[in-house]
Amino acid sequence: MDRIRIRGGRRLKGAIPISGAKNAALPLMVASLLTSGTLRLGNLPHLADISTLATLLAELGVDISMDGDAPGGGHFGRVLALTARKIASTTAPYDLVRRMRASVLVLGPLVAREGVARVSLPGGCAIGNRPVDLHLKGLEQLGAAIDVQAGYIEARAPKAGLRGGHIVFPMVSVGATENLLMAASLARGVSVLSNAAREPEVMDLARCLIAMGAQIDGVGTDTLTVQGSETLSGATHNVIPDRIETGTYAMAAAMTGGDVELVGAEESHIESLIEKLREARVRVTPTARGLRIAHGRGRLKGIDVMTEPYPGFPTDLQAQMMAMMSVAGGAAMITESIFENRFMHVPELGRMGANINVHGASAMVRGVPSLTGAEVMATDLRASVSLVLAGLVAEGETIVNRVYHLDRGYERLEEKLAACGADIERIKG
Ligand code: EPZ
Repeated sequence: MDRIRIRGGRRLKGAIPISGAKNAALPLMVASLLTSGTLRLGNLPHLADISTLATLLAELGVDISMDGDAPGGGHFGRVLALTARKIASTTAPYDLVRRMRASVLVLGPLVAREGVARVSLPGGCAIGNRPVDLHLKGLEQLGAAIDVQAGYIEARAPKAGLRGGHIVFPMVSVGATENLLMAASLARGVSVLSNAAREPEVMDLARCLIAMGAQIDGVGTDTLTVQGSETLSGATHNVIPDRIETGTYAMAAAMTGGDVELVGAEESHIESLIEKLREARVRVTPTARGLRIAHGRGRLKGIDVMTEPYPGFPTDLQAQMMAMMSVAGGAAMITESIFENRFMHVPELGRMGANINVHGASAMVRGVPSLTGAEVMATDLRASVSLVLAGLVAEGETIVNRVYHLDRGYERLEEKLAACGADIERIKG
């Protein structure tokens, strides 16, 4: 297994190109199941999760081709053409779903288009149990019959197909909103999704569905109204920039006392982060190409953060914020309100000298003068990258193991950081 070696102490200076958003690209690729036309997606990141989903979609009958390279060539910012002329299978098998839980998003589109779907339960993951009950309840409200047995979800639409319904989410769920938005787009009649997720990735999916002919009102609000269509057509759509990658590198620049331009960053998608960065004395300046992040006057200030559904502070930036607060001046209370077990980076940061005490859903971080490099292990995607950030400022050498977690969500991470002066390299293992 590959590992990443970092020697800390370098200030990051220069520019980092922001890739397309993983969490927008995944549902967008699944949307190709809703039409026999061709969906062309541009600015796709080159990530393991994208390849895993492409394998699943191909098994379901989607013809996928690289539809030319990104502007300026190169493997990155890929353009994929996806065509589900016919659905060849309505089963999403366990060995693929277990590798990437977002595979459960094929459930809604398959039931909507084919009237039937058999999808493995994704099971839990490191950060929590992560059930899919809201996905299933929502489909039942669109008329589907749901049966769960032997680890598989069996969903069946009525003969006449799914019908519009009013779905009220008891809690905000990004995936359930996306699954049901896609299903409702082909249901007969009007559906209303109340307490829907408002993440930019959900908005990006809605905009793509509209380009495919779907009739959706309320995009960007917590109430989505969908007038179902008989069929949808192909479309061309560029994936939004990755706000989590943006936030990750913003904190890397701030922690190292650097000065970095995040090229392609979309300021409006990370307002909650920008507010917190400025509170911590980080200078954030919009530029013609994106955002410039520079170390402010004096030491970073410890601040309190609570994760919330969008537009609140993203749970996917919680681990990175904790790494930054580990070397800030003062204390920081970090509360994780979305997932029940998303503090696994704490013991690893502790091994690097961070002073963090967890009390239930909150962690009290007391900034220390410096961290010390160590051999550490990643447990999930965002915990992994928080260890990389810590390694960038730690004295000495840090080795991050299980780098496959990183490859799921960060395109060319070590290249992008090394280009800004970080002493970081991948050790093939
Ligand atoms: C999406 O996961 C993201 N993944 C996650 O990013 C992100 O952390 C999460 O949204 C929250 O923003 C993708 O978009 C592929 P949820 P999702 O449904 O859709 C509970 C990353 O690092 N819940 O909004 O699975 C759930 O357990 C990943 O890129 C139910 O109880 O998240 C959680 O506590 C990690 N029942 C909360 O809701 C359900 O049916 C929010 O989950 C569904 C969710």
